[in-house]
Amino acid sequence: MTRLAGKTALITGAARGIGLAFAQAYIREGARVLIGDIDMDRARAEAARLGESALALEMDVTQQASIDNAVHAGIAHFGQIDILVNNAAIFTAAPIAEITRDDYARCFDINVAGTLFTLQAVARHMIERGQGGKIINMASQAGRRGEALVGVYCASKAAIISLTQSAGLNLISHGINVNAIAPGVVDGEHWDGVDAFFAKYEGKAPGQKKREVGASVPYGRMGVPDDLTGMAVFLASRDADYIVAQTYNVDGGQWMS
Ligand SMILES: NC(=O)c1ccc[n+]([C@@H]2O[C@H](COP(=O)([O-])OP(=O)(O)OC[C@H]3O[C@@H](n4cnc5c(N)ncnc54)[C@H](O)[C@@H]3O)[C@@H](O)[C@H]2O)c1
Repeated sequence: MTRLAGKTALITGAARGIGLAFAQAYIREGARVLIGDIDMDRARAEAARLGESALALEMDVTQQASIDNAVHAGIAHFGQIDILVNNAAIFTAAPIAEITRDDYARCFDINVAGTLFTLQAVARHMIERGQGGKIINMASQAGRRGEALVGVYCASKAAIISLTQSAGLNLISHGINVNAIAPGVVDGEHWDGVDAFFAKYEGKAPGQKKREVGASVPYGRMGVPDDLTGMAVFLASRDADYIVAQTYNVDGGQWMS
């Protein structure tokens, strides 16, 4: 299938995990992919594996100049950006009494401001080009409700769901569809970090939290990045032209809305 033939996608945080799986899936569908990340060693290595349809771009979504430079470099290389996936994010956890301003600011700077201002930079390019586009934000099941130890990350992902609604309503008049994906629990390095937080705050053995959350998923296991690629391709394709400002759960049945 080549549902994304001729399209160029910028995916932030695509040097590993879910973003990398999206990059691989988009290339299988005929797209060219810009891998924007702060981890340039991995971004370059993965881009080299993907071949000439991929380019690694140094991109720190907390720095406006870095966002602007990456967007300009991507357009200079492939000519346009048709699809943006705002995927870069960090996880953090702490009891409410232990949350620090620094940790809050770092999480919101990457997860929320990074998404908003990357979306803005790419939307400006899409508006100027006048051919519409597709923007996909990575929300989370964590954005659907609070969690006792995960106040800051949950709030950051709730903000993504809200921003997706506002940007979706604002940009559809330019033919730009903004939607979001809310994964549940997806195994990988991100969840290795989550597991470590729960080991610290709930006294669990390493790996225990992963086993528990996996067992609680109605589908019967944790997700893997490839479980999400079908939705990511669909939302980037023409099949999603009439879908505006939505957040889709792709979580094995964990959340219903
Ligand atoms: N893994 C899960 O269980 C899960 C669940 C729900 C939502 N999500 C969301 O899906 C997305 C991808 O998750 P993942 O599991 O692949 O995460 P990950 O931690 O494996 O990958 C995140 C990537 O973002 C990059 N990054 C971090 N800070 C950056 C910055 N300032 N600028 C640019 N890049 C930066 C990292 O280098 C890394 O390559 C995130 O938005 C995450 O919140 C993940």
